[in-house]
Amino acid sequence: MGDSLCILGHHYQSDEVIDCTDIRGDSLELARKINGLKAEHIVFCGVFFMAESAAILSRPGQKIHIPDPTATCPMADMAEAGRVRKTLAMLEESGRKIVPLTYVNSSAAVKGVVGEHGGSVCTSANAKIMLDWALSQGDAVLFLPDQHLGNNTGDALGIPADQRLLLPRDVIHGDPALALNPEDAEGKKLILWPGYCPIHVEFTLDAVRAIRENEPEAKVVVHPECDPAIVRAADGAGSTTFLIKYADEAPAGSTVYIGTEENLVKRLAARHAGCKTIRPLLTALCEDMGKTTLDNLARTLQTLDSAKPVTVANEVREPAKLALERMLAVCS
Ligand code: 13P
Ligand code: SF4
Repeated sequence: MGDSLCILGHHYQSDEVIDCTDIRGDSLELARKINGLKAEHIVFCGVFFMAESAAILSRPGQKIHIPDPTATCPMADMAEAGRVRKTLAMLEESGRKIVPLTYVNSSAAVKGVVGEHGGSVCTSANAKIMLDWALSQGDAVLFLPDQHLGNNTGDALGIPADQRLLLPRDVIHGDPALALNPEDAEGKKLILWPGYCPIHVEFTLDAVRAIRENEPEAKVVVHPECDPAIVRAADGAGSTTFLIKYADEAPAGSTVYIGTEENLVKRLAARHAGCKTIRPLLTALCEDMGKTTLDNLARTLQTLDSAKPVTVANEVREPAKLALERMLAVCS
């Protein structure tokens, strides 16, 4: 790694892009790394919210670049800051303190609203610790945008189903005032935004059942953005780093099915070929993660000094940084 440039990549990037990176990781590992980086230019191979988080956590003078700024996360786009703010205000009409906890897969503007409201951020690697923390800060938690990660984390903490409320789908696109009846949230501890990852909802319980029937010795591990029924049926669930570790530590001769984005599963299959069998639960490609290519990465590297870096306006950056720093402090 040179002094002036560092290339970061999320595990879902293609092999050819991953080969160009200095640092690879899951969302939590990459967020943690930003603070210690001295490079003037940081190129983030991933989706836009990751580059925004890097811009929020970067030092003065550092410039964050993303090879294709149109690479967004469709789940992050399911929570718009204005609607989140309005929903929080409505939920607090009863006088209860609602603490927002946003998955890192969310815009800087949403993180800003969450930070202003005393809330924080979580990733798939620390969701249980952060939900426990958020529950200790108020009467209830608004978890967003991923209903499945929220429910899976609620299961891990033993929050009963009758203490959870899934908000109506209309809060994603419509006016929360029309979609929401705040009385429905009374007595609930975990209030879930109805977002989801279009890639991870592709995985089905039937696929897990078929493996159990046909290959009873095989293991199945999935990302917690999958539906809770799939997580319950699997042998384990966790962040991309957890899934990599599971594959790496599986005994020689074993078979592991992995329910997550296929670039990562293919890489693990190739890494362990001849020793153990790693297969996708079903094939599911995140097109946005795939928007980073060798071509646009090369172009980004050629125009570092002239290109417009990813920036976050100060009025958003300050509260969003607070939200992210609360997470880094709780999980230090
Ligand atoms: P990880 O934080 O587990 O790497 O997941 C990020 C993501 O976008 C999963 O879809
Ligand atoms: Fe977003 Fe899903 Fe792609 Fe992850 S896999 S970046 S959650 S759309």
